[in-house]
Formats: sequence, C-alpha cells, structure tokens
Amino acid sequence: MTDSTAPERSRSLPPGPPYPRALQTLGWMRRPGPFLERCRERYGDTFTLRIAHEDCWIVLSDPDVVKEVFTGNPATLHAGEANAILRPLLGDQSVLLLDDEAHLVKRKLMLPSFHGERMERYGELMREIAEREIASWPRQQTLALLPQMQALTLEVIMRAVFGVDRGPRLDRLRALLRRLLDYTMDPRTLVPLVLLGPERLAFIPQLRRVFDQVDLALHEEIAQRRQEPGLAERDDVLSLLLEARYDDGTGMSDQELRDQLMTLLVAGHETTATALSWAIERLVRHPDKLQRLRDDVAAGSNEYVDAVAKETLRLRPVIPIVVRQLVEPMEIGGWALPAGIRVAPCIHLIHRRPDIYPEPARFRPERFLESPPGTYTWIPFGGGIRRCLGASFALFEMQVVLGAIVTHARLRAPVSAGERVRRRAITWTPSRGAEVLVEADDARAPNERTAATQPQAAEAVSA
Ligand code: HEM
Repeated sequence: MTDSTAPERSRSLPPGPPYPRALQTLGWMRRPGPFLERCRERYGDTFTLRIAHEDCWIVLSDPDVVKEVFTGNPATLHAGEANAILRPLLGDQSVLLLDDEAHLVKRKLMLPSFHGERMERYGELMREIAEREIASWPRQQTLALLPQMQALTLEVIMRAVFGVDRGPRLDRLRALLRRLLDYTMDPRTLVPLVLLGPERLAFIPQLRRVFDQVDLALHEEIAQRRQEPGLAERDDVLSLLLEARYDDGTGMSDQELRDQLMTLLVAGHETTATALSWAIERLVRHPDKLQRLRDDVAAGSNEYVDAVAKETLRLRPVIPIVVRQLVEPMEIGGWALPAGIRVAPCIHLIHRRPDIYPEPARFRPERFLESPPGTYTWIPFGGGIRRCLGASFALFEMQVVLGAIVTHARLRAPVSAGERVRRRAITWTPSRGAEVLVEADDARAPNERTAATQPQAAEAVSA
C-alpha cells in the first residue's frame, strides 16, 4: 500500500476530511449516507476519503465526471483490481475480478444468459417461486421480509443457473450458500475484514470450512453436469457456460466455471433481495403509491411497477459506490490523479442531487413516468463495460415479484417510522429487515380476491 499521507501527493488530490483514517472509516461504516452527504457539502462534488486498508478513494458525484470514468479507457480504469475485497468469496477467475482482455472474453460468454428472450423465459419461474413463497408467509403478524426475499431470490437464481430445483446436491448447496452469505454479509464480519484486509479473511478457520464445502458442492455439480447428455438442448446458465467456447475453441476449466457460478449466485441474489425489501419498506409507508401499484398491476400494466423498481434503486441503492483503480495517471474532473489511486463514482450522492431529482429524499416513482432515467444520473448498476451483467434480470425479477406481492398479500407498515440504512458488508439494507404486517387474506376486497386469481401480466413485463 502506498503512503497516501505523503504531503506532495495529497496536495494533488481533491480536498477531503482532514481527520485520521480511523475516524473516516468509522463515519463510512456507521452512517455512510449522512457521512457522504456531509463530505459533499463541505468539500464539493469531488472529494478524497481514506478508508481502512483501502488506499485513497476519490469520490465522484458530478454526472459529467462519472461519465468520464464510465466511458474512459478500461485498460487504465481497472474495476477487477478495485473489487479485490470480493476475491476470497468469488475466486480469481470471477468476471467481477478480472480486467482487460480476460474480463471482456468472460463477460461476452456470460452475457447472453441474462438478456432478451432467454431472460424473459425466467418470468414464469419467477412468478411461481414468488407465489409459493408469499403463500407461506404467516398472516396477521409482523414479518421481516429481507430473509424471505433472500430465500426467494436464491431460489430464482439457483433455478436459472442450474435449471433444476430438486435433488440432494442442490438442497445442500442452497443451505451452504445461505450459511456462507450470512457469515460474509454479517456486519460483525466487517471488523476482521477491516482489520485483516480481504486476502487474509479467507484464512479464518470457520469461514474457510464453509468456503471449502461450497467449493466441493459446486465442483460436484460441474462434474456431474459435464457427464450429462443433451447439454446443447438445455438452457440453464451452467449448461450454456459448459457449451460456450473461446475463440480458440477451448471451453472454461472447472475452476473458471466454479468462479463464475459463485459470482452469479452471490451477485444475483443478495442484491435483488435487498432491492425488493427496500421497495416494500418504502411502499408500505406510502399507501397511495402501494394502492396505485396494486391497481396498475391488476389492470395488466407494468408501467408503474417499473417506475417503483427504478425509484427504489434511486433512493435506496443497494450498492452505494463503484470503484475503479487507475493503472496509470489520468485526468478526471480536472484533477491530475496519480496511478494507483481509486476513483469511486458515488451512486448514493448522484441519486441525491436536487438539480437532477427535485426533493431527492422523497419516494416518488412518478418521476420515472415523467422522464426516463439518464445513463449517468441513474446508476444503481454501475456503468460502462462493467455495468452489472444481471441488470435486466434484476429489474425483471423486481417487477414480477412486486407484482405477485401486491396481488397476493395485503401489507402494512408495523410502525410509521421508516427503516434506517444498515450495512451488510457491501450492501445497504433496511435496518429491521423490512418489517411488514401481513394482513389476513380476507382483508382484501372481494373484487381484489377475484383479480388475484386471474393470470397476471408478467409475460408482458419487460425489463
Ligand atoms: C438489484 C440488483 C442488483 C444490483 C443493485 C446490482 C449492482 C451491481 C453493481 C453496482 C455492479 C458493479 C458495476 C460497476 O462496477 O460499474 C454489478 C456488477 C455485476 N453484477 Fe450486479 N446487481 C444486481 C443484480 C445482479 C444479478 C441478478 C446478477 C446475475 C444474474 C448480477 C451479476 C453481476 C455481475 C456478473 C457483475 C460484474 C460485471 C462486470 O464486472 O463486468 N447482478 N452489479
């Protein structure tokens, strides 16, 4: 790690809090949103933070400057290197951790699985899983939705990735993944993460044991699938990846496959579950919006549910920043930045700009009915050639699941105060896990009960 406190270098960096790294880390960990907002007020749209074992972050919250990063040369702006914190979990070959040619090649192989017609075929599956899950929710009591949403989105991504839902190997893998994620996302894990750094985290014996078990389960699944006939006819992601070929005719090794599967399973479910939980947390505190959503879905439209998903991801982005590491010096936003520094387009701050989003703290899905999101002003999925590979899949899943929830359950806020943002490792989640009061089924008006039994318009929902 370079000495970011060297006086000649700090002079060339944008201003930032003058207090010690430990205090900045505390602000970032405890109340990240207000901390970032205070920094912007004090130091402007571009400022420097010093967080834990990370080198300096140059936080960016001007869309024009963010555009410079997202459209900049990927050979200079390395995302893989900047995502090193995820290496122990995802593995060296993960598309999230690679840069340059290796990244592009893997991304190209994976992209088709999550786009267009192929992705829309998951709609029926998503709705089925959502309806089954909703039917199991206990009525007339308070329920934290986040764990329910995690179970639901894990099921969706596992079915999309492996193509089947039954079998002892997958049941075991499902249970192991939950254990692994509960452990790695636990805010208490942040303490060793901050103290040890990501590379050494994997050597904690308790964590190592779960990692090893998950690895074994994934390798067993890959080996089994390799031997199965008719791979070309299957359309699950694992089969597609097994069939995919690089330009030289070779396929992915088992280790590469393991890392991509792990990446999709982790990136694909915790994030979407959190976004869904926030959507409900906001909706139950805005009964007029909830009612409008219910009416719109019952009328077979997907317009409002799309706006709700987008507004939720604006106001409560699951991931607050994305990071790129400069491989060589680069001028960004008028600052001549040295190699080695990390630039961080700040999703949270961009989404809170009053010049782009009037009354930015207000939950108002209508704003996305009035004008579509901008490429550099609505960035919950990051941007450029690193933009989230599952963005369409996630938006589609949010639409289908929210549609199913408002059709099949009556929810209320148990208390009027909204939930605060709580950090679960790298995601920002509702502090009480999105608690809702699930009313008895007969709390619905008779005409709504009839509507709920009608086939929904999810086929028409497009991402
Ligand atoms: C609401 C849900 C989701 C959110 C908020 C989200 C957010 C993000 C963000 C912020 C990035 C980094 C982008 C950047 O560095 O510019 C990312 C990358 C990625 N996401 Fe998502 N994601 C979500 C769902 C998913 C799903 C469902 C999948 C898989 C099915 C997925 C797979 C990935 C992958 C593979 C990458 C790495 C892309 C690359 O480096 O080329 N994500 N996501």
